[in-house]
Amino acid sequence: MNTGLDGVVAAVTNLSQVDGEAGRLIVRGHDIEELAARFDFADTAALLWDGLAPGSVEGHLDGTAIRQALGLARLRAADRLPLLLPAAKGLSPIEGLRAGLAMLGDDDCDHLLLCAAVPVFTAALWRQTLGQPAVSPDPGLGQAADFLTMLTGRPADQMAARALETYLVTVADHGLNASTFTARVVSSTRAGMVSAVVAALCALKGPLHGGAPGPVLDMLDEIGNPAGIEPWLDRQFAAGERLMGFGHRVYRTRDPRADVLKGVVAGLRGGPNRIALAERVERAVLARLAERYPSRRLDTNVEFYTALALEAAGLPRQLFTLAFAMGRVLGWTAHIFEQEQTGRIIRPASRYTGPVPRGRTLAAVAG
Ligand code: CMC
Repeated sequence: MNTGLDGVVAAVTNLSQVDGEAGRLIVRGHDIEELAARFDFADTAALLWDGLAPGSVEGHLDGTAIRQALGLARLRAADRLPLLLPAAKGLSPIEGLRAGLAMLGDDDCDHLLLCAAVPVFTAALWRQTLGQPAVSPDPGLGQAADFLTMLTGRPADQMAARALETYLVTVADHGLNASTFTARVVSSTRAGMVSAVVAALCALKGPLHGGAPGPVLDMLDEIGNPAGIEPWLDRQFAAGERLMGFGHRVYRTRDPRADVLKGVVAGLRGGPNRIALAERVERAVLARLAERYPSRRLDTNVEFYTALALEAAGLPRQLFTLAFAMGRVLGWTAHIFEQEQTGRIIRPASRYTGPVPRGRTLAAVAG
């Protein structure tokens, strides 16, 4: 039985297409490499929401208007902090973000507020763990620059802001990944956009999905230097552990986003040093995986270089999954709009293998 639903088509979308054999990702007509090079977060939002978000008509949603609306939405999100911060004391950042998004109302929250709330809440939650007060958003800045400013309390380094913006665009949408599927399932019940996004965040949090990049950095730190690679891998395989940042359900070749993000790291301070060890680790892991699973091609996925890119942009590793959410919330909201248009509840079937009441056959209870 196909327990992982491999290859099952569960939605029709015009948002993005993952070609696992060719290692290609297309987002609304753009290859991911081109999107990452040319689009910022607001342009990507305009692209993904076009024809779907209320008030937009195909071809008429533009990045400038969205950039301004997102800036104002970050101010609206900051108004929620006095309620969120005391409630989130003692929670991890991802649990705090989950609580913060859950505090938004399905009836009075829109896609802009949701996309603005992720960076505003993340920065304030992190500062609270450091015992520092929240920094107000600057609606005139781009999404990444404002997030870094709110996070550190200092004007964002331009290179770091550009790198983070590229990261957000690179991970904005990716077919029917687990969190996006979750968002569509919840949306199909007409529970509302906030409920669907909170559910998606819960799915993203897991280490097999968006929780991988923090452990990637832990792995590089534990390995330490080239001499540490093979002994570390021996220990991991002996313990039956999965190697974070490798393998993918759809890609049978290298994840194209890995190279986009590797390019981002190369341009940042300290990046080339990290890349030198990371490349050696990557080669060693791929050789081991090929030896172990000769009939299943396992390659580098987006999370391996995500870890390096986010570290080089100045984010603490505890915030890596929240940064993923900061980008992917665009895809979630776009898919929710698209799902709402279909109007049909997603309700698959299961095959019952439990006991059957005495005197009845399985076929008689199947319905
Ligand atoms: N390290 C070690 N073994 C692995 C790995 C890995 N990273 N990935 C797959 N395998 C093994 C897997 O255990 C299975 O072995 P067995 O048949 O003995 O159980 C075999 O390879 C085939 O696995 P698969 O069917 O290709 O894997 P899947 O499609 O069920 O899972 C995955 C995909 C991404 C969950 C998995 O590769 C994994 O756990 N990777 C590590 C976590 C990670 O990097 N996650 C981020 C994914 S990319 C971003 C995103 O989409 O969120």
